[in-house]
Parts: sequence; structure tokens; C-alpha cells
Amino acid sequence: MKQLKKVLVILFASVLLVACGANNAKTDGSSGSGKTYNVGVAIYRFDDNFMTLYRQELEKYFGELGAKDGNTYKLDIQDGKQDQSTQTEQINNFIAQGKDVIIANLVDPTAAASVINSAKAKEIPVVLINREPTPQDLEIWPGKTTYVGADATQSGTIQGEMIAGLPNKGDINGDGKISYITLMGDPANVDAQQRTEYSIKGYEAKGGAVNLLAQPYQANWDSAKGQEFTASALEQFGKDLEVIFANNDGMAVGAVTAINAAGRKVGEDIYIVGVDAIPDALELLKNAQLTGTVLNDHFNQSHTAADVAVELMQGKDVEAYYWHDYVGVTKPEDAELKRVDARKETIAEIKVRYAERG
Ligand code: GAL
Repeated sequence: MKQLKKVLVILFASVLLVACGANNAKTDGSSGSGKTYNVGVAIYRFDDNFMTLYRQELEKYFGELGAKDGNTYKLDIQDGKQDQSTQTEQINNFIAQGKDVIIANLVDPTAAASVINSAKAKEIPVVLINREPTPQDLEIWPGKTTYVGADATQSGTIQGEMIAGLPNKGDINGDGKISYITLMGDPANVDAQQRTEYSIKGYEAKGGAVNLLAQPYQANWDSAKGQEFTASALEQFGKDLEVIFANNDGMAVGAVTAINAAGRKVGEDIYIVGVDAIPDALELLKNAQLTGTVLNDHFNQSHTAADVAVELMQGKDVEAYYWHDYVGVTKPEDAELKRVDARKETIAEIKVRYAERG
């Protein structure tokens, strides 16, 4: 018995020693037996609510990956300051420095082809995020370029369905239709275009009729602009304005400030929906100051972007598209973040889907 105890103690001590050794290798800054990978990350603009959540989660997750696999992921994250020429310079620097992979949230999605061509010339794989490229862009270097994101048509549709699902279908004055405005994000961004279009399609598909009060206000994802445009719309249209579709929560949060200042009450004489599920929007939702929002899943999108980047750095080929679903949020708990696998799509499949969409 004594003998067994002794053996167990020795065993336990050696396990501890090995564990400490492994730990030291990671915390002392060296990569242990692991490799060091250099990751260039180009963000379209640091000063953006949603992309800030995304960026922070991406950094955190790469840290977790490194702690798990013993590799060191060195992230070089650049702020494109919403200027494509600034960002092109940053990406060209990544290429010149020979980064192992580039993760790019382009300022101007039409720059995708030239970014991919430059990276391909130096054999640096590219993971595009947040702004959907065309299938033609991804055909330039199949297997080594990919898009990780969410399908913006889905977020618009969910917004429309959310209004259609209200007991009065959003039709406060009972005239058989909703009179609405849209607060639009950056018009060059496919998310803004598709949410604007599909929020209405989603509403109409549920049998609702609409009355457009004004052309979409170009509030560029910006809270202050959302507030400003909403204030002037409320002044111009008064009680006729029943529904506000905001392409993102930043603008919706600004709009709610204008709604309150005008003495209107969300849920009683006006409805407003956003997209992203940022903390400020969830706070408004908790206090019944926002009709709803749609989770733009930065958590899963950033994790998948990192996972795919790691596969590329290991020399593997990856799929063309990785999608994470948007989720309708009418109470804060709906926006709970939990890891789910991405849906993969090939270029051929997406072409069919686009053709069906028309
Ligand atoms: C959208 C998001 C916006 C903004 C934009 C940047 O997906 O909803 O809030 O971050 O991306 O491209």
C-alpha cells in the first residue's frame, strides 16, 4: 500500500512539473515548440461599433488559439480610417513584409480583386470579412481566398418580419399600410443595400403593404447622423411616420434619442428596428425603447475567420464562403453568443443562389 502511495505521489509530482513547464513556455513569450505566424488584419475603420466588437473578439480568440496549440499568432491590426488608398498601402505593406495571411475588412469592396491579385503574386492567402465580395473576386485564387460573413438579405428580411409580426403589423393609424423611412449605412456597402431592400421585401412577403415617406437617408452607420435625419423626418412627417428601419444599431440608437426628444414613444406611436445587437441597443431593448434588432454574430464570424486563417497558414485549401446566420432579437437573451459551425458554400452554389434571388 505504502509502495503504491509513493508511486502515486511521484506520478502526481511529475505531471505537475510537466504542466508547469508547458505553462512557462507559453507565458515567457517564447512560442515553445510551436511556430510563430504573422497575421495582417486590415479593418475598414476602427471607429465603428460593430467592427470594434469584431476586432476585439478576433484578437482575444487568436490569443486563445495560441494558448491551446502552442503557436504564437502575431497580429498586426491596421485602421483603414475609411480610406481605401490608406488601406491599400497597409495591405501592400503586409504583402511586402511577407505576412502569413491577410484578414481584410475592405473599405471599398470593389478593391477585392486588386487586393487578391497582389496577395496571390506573393502567395499570401486572404480572408475577406464583413463586406461580401463577388464570386468573380474569389475565382481569382480559389482555395486560398475566402469570405467569412453573414448574408445581409437575411438581416433585412428578419427586420421586415419583425414588424409584420407585431399585433398591428406596425400599422399604427390603421390605414392598411406602414409609412416608413430607412436609415441607410454606407451606400457602397452590400449590407446597407441589401438590408434596405430586404426589410421591405420581408415585410411584404408577410402580406404587409408599405408607404415610403422619403428616399433612404444616408446616415453611413453613424449614430449622430441617425439622430439628425430622424429628427428632421419626425418634424416633416409628424404622426404619419410609423416605422423606422435602421440598417444598423448605431443609427437606431441615434434615432431613439430623436424619437424621445420629439415626445414620441417607441412601441406606442412608432416602431424602430436595427441590426448588430450592440450593447447600447440591447440596453434600449431592455427598457422597451427599441422594437427589435438582429444579431450580427461578430463572435462566430471572428472565430471562423481565425480558424480559416489558421487552416490557410497550415497550407490547406479552404471553401469560398463561410456563413453565420443572423438572429432576430426582441429581448436581450436572444442575442446570447454561443459557438456554432459556419455554413459553407462553393462558388458554383452561390452563383445558383444569386441567380434565384434575381
Ligand atoms: C455591418 C454592420 C455595421 C457596420 C458595417 C461596416 O455589417 O452592421 O454596423 O459595422 O458592417 O462594414
